[in-house]
Amino acid sequence: MEISLREKIKEAGEFIQSKTKIKPRIGIILGTGLGNLTKEIEIESRLSYQNIPYFAVSTTPGHEGSLILGRLVGKMIIAMQGRFHFYEGYSLEEITFPLRVMKYLGVNVIIESNAAGGMNPNFKAGDLMVITDHINLIGNNPLIGPNDDKLGPRFVDMCEPYDKELIELYEKVAMRERIRIHRGVYVGVSGPNLETPAEYRFLRLIGADAVGMSTVPEVIVAKHSGLKVLGISCITDECFPDKLEPVNLAKLIKVANLAEPKMTRLIKGILGEI
Ligand code: HPA
Repeated sequence: MEISLREKIKEAGEFIQSKTKIKPRIGIILGTGLGNLTKEIEIESRLSYQNIPYFAVSTTPGHEGSLILGRLVGKMIIAMQGRFHFYEGYSLEEITFPLRVMKYLGVNVIIESNAAGGMNPNFKAGDLMVITDHINLIGNNPLIGPNDDKLGPRFVDMCEPYDKELIELYEKVAMRERIRIHRGVYVGVSGPNLETPAEYRFLRLIGADAVGMSTVPEVIVAKHSGLKVLGISCITDECFPDKLEPVNLAKLIKVANLAEPKMTRLIKGILGEI
């Protein structure tokens, strides 16, 4: 007999609970080149994805595969160092499974970070953007299939995908820390290839400021689960169709690593306020 999603969540959740005393209320998902925040966590348990029931294993360079439970700024948190992407060949149910487990563990706020290409001409590589909204162009949806009403509603409302209060709080902290941040719309694509100039022109035209290959399915499942979301993109490359330069992963990771201390300061600042 096939094991239901709810049973898988319970099994993974109970496994994690058996390994830690931390009762996390905040979940943090760390994007490409943005894993250094974990150095600031007072780690209580570090679990390798491969040991957690039903967790996938991330294959992207720059993405370690561990789930960290501990304290940051005195708050009990759970952090994913490394995430799963659609281009790796996982189903969107697998990719978003950790969010379901976080909800099971008692999390109510998710902080998402990612590396993204900047299409808004005001953005520079190394800048940060707080995500105000998104467009799903991944070509799939994690909620397709039978809906389990105990996990969330069939038709998830998306009028406020990114929590307005958290955005305002984030901007307040950025002001206090004197870190320049942008607001913007993130468009999620499947990848793994980067976009053609015509595609960047199209994505900009439909209202996106930054483009990336993650986050959107996770946010859809977070909303399905009733979680509040804060999303932050690190702009790792400038995607201006008329002066496009080749990029590679090493370059993106280098920019993300350079911007990461700003991201860490802001996340710590916001944790102090929630
Ligand atoms: N597209 C373009 N540039 C990027 C992306 C992307 O998906 N992610 C990070 N930089």
